[in-house]
Order: sequence, then structure tokens, then C-alpha cells
Amino acid sequence: MEDDLKSLVTATSATLARIASDFSPAVFASSLAAEDMVLTDLILKAGLPIQIFSLETGRLHPETLAMLERVKEHYNGYEIALYRPVTEAVDAYVAQNGLNAFYDSVEMRRECCRIRKVEPLGRALSGKKAWVTGQRRSQSTTRAELDVQEDDPAHNMIKFNPLADWSETDVWNYLRDNQVPYNALHDQGFPSIGCAPCTRAIEPGEDVRAGRWWWENPDSKECGLHMVDGKLIRIKSVNA
Ligand code: ADX
Ligand code: SF4
Repeated sequence: MEDDLKSLVTATSATLARIASDFSPAVFASSLAAEDMVLTDLILKAGLPIQIFSLETGRLHPETLAMLERVKEHYNGYEIALYRPVTEAVDAYVAQNGLNAFYDSVEMRRECCRIRKVEPLGRALSGKKAWVTGQRRSQSTTRAELDVQEDDPAHNMIKFNPLADWSETDVWNYLRDNQVPYNALHDQGFPSIGCAPCTRAIEPGEDVRAGRWWWENPDSKECGLHMVDGKLIRIKSVNA
């Protein structure tokens, strides 16, 4: 492993150990994409008591769902906890607006994300002191000021982005060096993976998030997991 990556790994492992000891109970939200597999590997190999969960929106790719089984095989039977949307809410949205109404407007898209991701996220975070995400600063314009530790007033807890300083190359070097399983879609032109109807492959040279909600303006491309009242917030924690 290169020296730069080694020091990133050391710092990230220390952050994760601190989260486990000082912010218990803490949970990690995994979308099962590349960044989240780095954190999964670091958490599970160190045996840290940070529970890993995924939001199973009902619209994920089969390749993403297959990662649940691959994680189980690779990490001695570890089972990622799943949170699903409320069936009645999904049924009402689909009955009223159609299955793919998120293509019609940003409002329709955010409402679908609210039902399928944001509300289940609230349940996953209930009673926890901190949550961990795989966000990186260089992923998008909306994440340019991301800190490793921030306040999350929407959930009334601390939010950690331990990979904030990592580049895409760091992520892939780590996965390769440590032979970590990764989502098969990454080899088919998908650097960023969300729900199937809202994610497409990108062309070489395109921005890594160009395939997410590609019909929208780059500044609206957050699903609500990382927003408050429709706005992005970046409040530095006093303890950071
Ligand atoms: S999104 O907000 O645009 O969907 P992105 O796919 O970049 O987010 O993922 C950023 C982080 O949000 C992930 O590293 C993960 O922590 C969390 N996340 C996104 N989607 C999910 C999901 N389906 N389940 C759990 N966590 C998720
Ligand atoms: Fe709905 Fe698309 Fe958001 Fe998934 S990403 S919850 S399908 S709008």
C-alpha cells in the first residue's frame, strides 16, 4: 500500500474507533457502493461495534442487492440490517403519480426519495448518537465543503464522513489492495450507484455523479439523506 493511502487508512481507522468508543450506539449507512465497502471492510475487520444498515428502497439494482449476500460470504456471515419504506406510502405515491413520477419534477423526485429513503433513514437512526456515511468531498459540488465530523440537527446527532479526504483513486486502491468485494455495476460504467431508474452509466471523462438523476441540475442532486428542510447544511461541530 502506498504511504499516502496508509496514512489515510490510519486516520480513518482512528476516526472509526473513536466513533465506536465515544458515540455509542453509532450506525453506518451503506449504499453498498465502493466507498461504503471501504468503510465496511475497516469496521468489520476491526470488529468495531458500529452496526451497518442499508436502505432497501425497492428500486435497487439486482447487482446492488447481490452485495448483501457477498458481504455475508466475505465477512463470516455478517448480515447488513435492512430498512424498507412503508408499503402504504409507496402504494399511495404510485397510485396517485405513477411508478416513475420522479422524472416529472424535482418535487416529485424528492417526494419519492422522502418515502423510500428519508423516512426509513429516520427509523434507522432513531435512538442513535452518531451515524457514519461514505460521502467524499470530491464527489460533487454539493459536497465540496464536507467535514469528517459535522452536526446533523435534522436527526439531532453527530454525522461522520470518515472518507471526506479520500479521492476516488484512494478508494479503488484500497479495495484492490485488500481484495474487498465490490458492486459489479462499477465495472459497467457506474462510478456512483443509487436506485436503478435514477442511475445510469457515464461516459469516460464525465463527472462521477453525472449518472445520478441525470435529468436534473447538478445543485439539486441530493436525495434528502444529506439535507435539511430542502437545503444543504454544513455546520461545523464545536468538537470537530
Ligand atoms: S445520495 O444521497 O446521492 O443517494 P450517495 O449514493 O452519493 O448518496 O451516497 C452517499 C452516502 O449516503 C453513502 O456513502 C451512504 O452512507 C449513504 N447512502 C446512500 N444511499 C444509501 C442507501 N440506499 N442505504 C444506506 N445508505 C445510503
Ligand atoms: Fe425514488 Fe429515484 Fe429517489 Fe430511488 S433515487 S427513492 S427511485 S426518486
